[in-house]
Amino acid sequence: MPNSCRHFLSLLDLSPAELSQLITRAIELKAQWKAGHSHTILSNRTLGMIFEKSSTRTRVSFETGMTQFGGHAIFLSPRDTQLGRGEPIEDSARVLSRMVDLIMIRTFEQSKIEAFAENSRVPVINALTNEYHPCQLLADVQTYIEHKGSIQGKTVTWIGDGNNMCHSYMNAAKQFDFKLVIACPEGYDPEPSIAEKTKDHFEIIRDPIEASRGADLITTDVWTSMGQEEEQQKRLKAFALHKVSQAHMQVAKKDAVFMHCLPAHRGEEVDADVIDGNQSIVWDQAENRLHAQKALIEFLARNSGIL
Ligand code: CP
Ligand code: NVA
Repeated sequence: MPNSCRHFLSLLDLSPAELSQLITRAIELKAQWKAGHSHTILSNRTLGMIFEKSSTRTRVSFETGMTQFGGHAIFLSPRDTQLGRGEPIEDSARVLSRMVDLIMIRTFEQSKIEAFAENSRVPVINALTNEYHPCQLLADVQTYIEHKGSIQGKTVTWIGDGNNMCHSYMNAAKQFDFKLVIACPEGYDPEPSIAEKTKDHFEIIRDPIEASRGADLITTDVWTSMGQEEEQQKRLKAFALHKVSQAHMQVAKKDAVFMHCLPAHRGEEVDADVIDGNQSIVWDQAENRLHAQKALIEFLARNSGIL
């Protein structure tokens, strides 16, 4: 069956104008919710949520978002569905998308979510793969804008692994038109195929202090992502010089902010006095997962004709 609905598998699936409208809408939905207005546009609608990796923020924000919209969300894990017993991803997509209205997936390879989307009749949302974490970037950009205004033309410094979050920052730099400086140790560079698509928007500066000079935003992530647990000892050594500290914040712009997608490991990728300090906006960033994803759900629901 031809699949004509819009999906959100990476930030490149929406145009810069659509992304910018989505962030504006997220800010608006947040204000409306806080003012006590309910917006039950998705009553009788269901979001299927497939989690093949752990989650706190993503699960709670999507589930709460659907509740606030008057709809429902179903948590599905391979441990207790047929996905964990070898039912093909394509068959799962065909079946689930005949029942639910939207599907969110957290999994390993990006190719898996692409295969799912190709066989889905309803919008599919990437809630983290080995390659990308686009929902997190919606929240990050919303948070930056709320605190500092437009992110266009600003300098964002990424310190750490060239991982899924780093790749989504590269896509965000292209879509929201900011400059990204990546300080990753050799051997942990971003994927060349993703770098090729975003090459005009980032540069690699190996020394984390040099990379932080003049930054408007400094951000980092865990050194060992989900699925890489057996590499942990090797990674602790490889990233030893990539812990974000006050030394980095001091060479950044005076009013620079710090973000981390969380969960954080104080004393590893970031010092406690940075993440708990007055330049850190990580709690607003975490909260905005809820508001940004509500705007995303609304956008996709509208584009698939259920709104
Ligand atoms: N940042 C983020 O995605 O958090 P969770 O893994 O808790 O969902
Ligand atoms: N890079 C991390 C992000 C967690 C939200 C991981 O993939 O585990």
